[in-house]
Amino acid sequence: MLKRAKFIFLTVMIGLCLGASPVLAQQALPQSSKAGRAHAKAQDPWWKHAVIYEIYPRSFQDSNGDGVGDINGITSRLDYLHDLGVDAIWISPMYPSPLVDFGYDISDYTAIDPLYGTLADFDRLVSEAKKRNIRVIMDFVPNHTSDQHPWFQESRSSRTNPKRDWYIWRDGKGSGEPPNNWQSWFGHSAWKLDPATNQYFYHHFYTEQPDLNWRNPQVRKAMYDAMRFWLKRGAAGFRIDAVSRLFEDPNLHDDPILPGKNAYGDPNIAHKYTDNLPEVHEVLREMRRVVNEYPGNPVLISEADEPNIAELTKMYGAKNDEVQLPMDFQIADVNKLSAPDFRRLLSEIDGNAAGGQPHYFFSNHDQPRQWDRYGDGVHNDQIAKLMAALLLATRATPLMYYGEEIGMRTTDPARKEDVQDPVGKIGWPQDKGRDGERTPMQWDASRNAGFSTAERPWLPVPASSAEYNVEAESKETGSILSFYKQLIALRRSNPALRNGRYLPLNREDPFVLSFLRKKPGSGDAILVVLNMSAEPRTVKFDLAAHGVKESSATPLIAAPEIGHEATVLTHFTIPAFGVFIGTVH
Ligand code: NOJ
Repeated sequence: MLKRAKFIFLTVMIGLCLGASPVLAQQALPQSSKAGRAHAKAQDPWWKHAVIYEIYPRSFQDSNGDGVGDINGITSRLDYLHDLGVDAIWISPMYPSPLVDFGYDISDYTAIDPLYGTLADFDRLVSEAKKRNIRVIMDFVPNHTSDQHPWFQESRSSRTNPKRDWYIWRDGKGSGEPPNNWQSWFGHSAWKLDPATNQYFYHHFYTEQPDLNWRNPQVRKAMYDAMRFWLKRGAAGFRIDAVSRLFEDPNLHDDPILPGKNAYGDPNIAHKYTDNLPEVHEVLREMRRVVNEYPGNPVLISEADEPNIAELTKMYGAKNDEVQLPMDFQIADVNKLSAPDFRRLLSEIDGNAAGGQPHYFFSNHDQPRQWDRYGDGVHNDQIAKLMAALLLATRATPLMYYGEEIGMRTTDPARKEDVQDPVGKIGWPQDKGRDGERTPMQWDASRNAGFSTAERPWLPVPASSAEYNVEAESKETGSILSFYKQLIALRRSNPALRNGRYLPLNREDPFVLSFLRKKPGSGDAILVVLNMSAEPRTVKFDLAAHGVKESSATPLIAAPEIGHEATVLTHFTIPAFGVFIGTVH
């Protein structure tokens, strides 16, 4: 899961549905009359061709002037998302929460936090989204609850409480020592002594996020019922948080110590006994059976930072019976413009043994934004387009993060006292937390970038909003936003780009990542050429074996623009960090 490039985190029956049947309303979306959407309908499930867009609800649009984004704010921006070409939105948690981890600490799984609105607001969002052919994916946090959740309050009340076993309670080693050396991902021991019963509870994340005991059948039932609650209300699926952390070694073996210390001053450890235990897959199969009870192919997206393709492949399930879209953190975290590295990873996941659909992303609410993480400091806007093409031109289901389409940059707090994310306080200054990638969406050049009318939004609006904002970029044909729109529209309208095979080219080229997208039996293909270097490059394409007879490619999208003479396949010239997407016959 959560893996910050900067530093440390190396370490959700019809017969039983609500009367208004929002299930059918949301799930069985009417197909748009647009040609591309009709193509996609034929055999494939919707999520295979969807452009998914993550919304961090605190930061997208504030509708009531309290400085924090909310559900009605999201609803008010649906036309923008439709215009961009988004098919589904994944919204980070909006459940009631003490907000220690800004919503990833849930105190009620079947309600909406008043900060974000009401269940009626949620229903309206789903219904308005449906009118625009946009599905709503919920964030589901099964590993832990908030310590304020009534389940935990009961559990901690006595050693004999019926919910005691819903969480992980153990005796210490004596003399104030926790049960073992397991560490929280947010620093220090993963065990916290609760004086009321003189036992330790286990928390993989913050102390205020006690881990649920997934070996308890009652826990599983309660959580699956929570998923059903949202599916009945029209959720199109779930992004499942921290999946690989669901189980811990029941024998409490110490984790192996590694050399060095982390940003919190703790010894580095390998999370061998708290990560990716095989029982995770049993739970994923059960979750899949839950979503399969509902029509319309609800999707499961797993947040799991699998270390290699073999582990990532397991997430699809031996019988394709686990998650449809495991987020590919390997692609997200290449963290450098390396054609060989991307080529290797793209080929590995493309050929995964499960035949699963790849799922790529570069930015999210836990990772510094791609604009600066992949930018070289000089050509960042061009590199933003390069990354957009890499995300949108392969056959993977793309996942965008709000604001990447306008080139939002990471804007870390300048002073420790300004930090909101607790981890940034623990790790300051080495780890400034995740505020930098969660700043308000930049809608226009007005006060607070059009995000809020509050005196002070919950996080400051970056100065870059004066130039990088939706309003300004909508008017510019050469903007990052216009580029994303063109790419998404092309992906939707072009059969080879939407549904063609991925065929890597020039496998030894150190600088230029190139591939074909081609439908079997079709003479037409799409050639994608991405120059990952700061120099113009001339390359040779021999595409005869792929049935290409013509000597030149015809541009569909190029940035910067390139002349026809540059597209001759025997000496194809691509500018520094250039993007070319064109047809070859
Ligand atoms: C992963 C989420 O993306 C992150 O924001 C959160 O802090 C942890 N899981 C704990 O829920």
